[in-house]
Amino acid sequence: MDKYELKIMGWTGILLVIFLVTVVRAAGKYATDVPECIPYDESFTEPRIAQLDDNVYQVYMLAQMWNFEPSEIYLPVGAEVDFYLSSKDVVHGFHIADKNVNMMAVPGGINKTSAKFNEPGIYPIVCHEYCGSGHQHMRGEIIVNHPQ
Ligand code: CUA
Repeated sequence: MDKYELKIMGWTGILLVIFLVTVVRAAGKYATDVPECIPYDESFTEPRIAQLDDNVYQVYMLAQMWNFEPSEIYLPVGAEVDFYLSSKDVVHGFHIADKNVNMMAVPGGINKTSAKFNEPGIYPIVCHEYCGSGHQHMRGEIIVNHPQ
């Protein structure tokens, strides 16, 4: 093997190690939570909010051209929420501003992730995957309030 090929392979290996270490460190530092895919079940595509306990909720979210259902979600401060996400038509994005939530809504699939809302406020939900002519209007809101 040519000495230049060996040098290039050596540098490539070093860069690969640096890349992997960076990815693993960033995942730890930002507590990256990878969404799960769960087996498809028609009942997950019925949009609703279920309260399991005082501060424990499940949100069954359906994305479609060009809205999310439910489009407004009211939660108390401290709510722990499991989001189950699917799509009625094409692939949509699902990003909750100021939260580490970033998923795809895929027709025929259910993606799940969790989030905790410790601060009151309005958290916009946006579609961040181009899904057609109304994409820029596709949004929802999570409204987190102190209990009345
Ligand atoms: Cu839905 Cu973009």
